[in-house]
Amino acid sequence: RPLVILISGTGSNMQAIVRAAQQRRWRERYRAEVAAVISNRPDAKGLAWAAEQGVPTAVVDHQAYPSREAFDDALAQAIARFDPHGRGLVILAGFMRILTPGFVQHHEGRIVNIHPSLLPAFPGLHTHRRAIEAGCRFAGATVHLVTAELDHGPILEQAVVPILPGDTPETLAARVLTQEHLIYPRAIERLLGAGV
Ligand code: GRF
Repeated sequence: RPLVILISGTGSNMQAIVRAAQQRRWRERYRAEVAAVISNRPDAKGLAWAAEQGVPTAVVDHQAYPSREAFDDALAQAIARFDPHGRGLVILAGFMRILTPGFVQHHEGRIVNIHPSLLPAFPGLHTHRRAIEAGCRFAGATVHLVTAELDHGPILEQAVVPILPGDTPETLAARVLTQEHLIYPRAIERLLGAGV
């Protein structure tokens, strides 16, 4: 079962997933492997890390395409190189592109994303700053199936962290990220175990 992970930057969530997939029990139980790490940015730091782990990598540079649809088509073709039967999971991990409805439909029910808020609260960007400014006492992260509607879709896992006095978006982001690295592999294991 090929897992194709899409990143745009550091890819710390990708790293957590690759590490989980390297465990023998994962391979034996889920018969899934990380087939590739693909980025829309040639300079994404996660690409070098993945390559060092022996994971195939590819770049589909969104700046090289005239439209969102053209980029998504090229991205779908790159994914198909690693998942020719179209049965794997497409895992968005710090992937900062909004995917077109056509792309989502093509991979229907097999795209997963992690969003740094307790959805449905704070869809979109700058979630930590917004939560602090709203006076929230808690923040967190959500793993969800991707639908055509941004940051929507069935929730698979969530983690909650306290917002502490004096928190900045950076200190809160770091606290949430730690939890992300725990819930993302777990959500994927549950999806694979459920035979999605
Ligand atoms: C994280 O906040 C994650 O929730 C969001 O992108 C940020 C960076 O993730 N999706 P990563 O370190 O690139 O995995």
